[in-house]
Amino acid sequence: MLGKLNHVAIAVKDISSATKTYKNIFGAQVSEPLDQPMHGVTVVFVTLPNTKIELISPLGENSPIVNFFNKNHNGGIHHICYEVKDLELAITNLIKNNYKLIGDKIPKIGAHGKPVIFLHPSNFDGTLIELQQE
Ligand code: CO
Repeated sequence: MLGKLNHVAIAVKDISSATKTYKNIFGAQVSEPLDQPMHGVTVVFVTLPNTKIELISPLGENSPIVNFFNKNHNGGIHHICYEVKDLELAITNLIKNNYKLIGDKIPKIGAHGKPVIFLHPSNFDGTLIELQQE
């Protein structure tokens, strides 16, 4: 069962410019950039009253979002993240129903310190989905 929308991640070419736009033009609350070597991204969190936006830019040569930029030269919405009450149960259910997971089917610790897993866009109308333990 899906819970809250945790965040929408937007791949950006220039994270400092994108951060300035959210901060200065929209007056949004933004974090300092945070490097996440395990996920190959640098992230800025934009906190909105009901959810978060994550501005992500590639970190390192093997960043998983380099490929995204090859297809989307200007950047764009990269994934959306839903919270689930029981991530292990959600994974079991997805596998049982032949949905494709990204990676080794073992949750990783995400940007918020909680276990996450990514689901293949081919099963979700072209949308990369992240599930996060609530
Ligand atoms: Co995310």
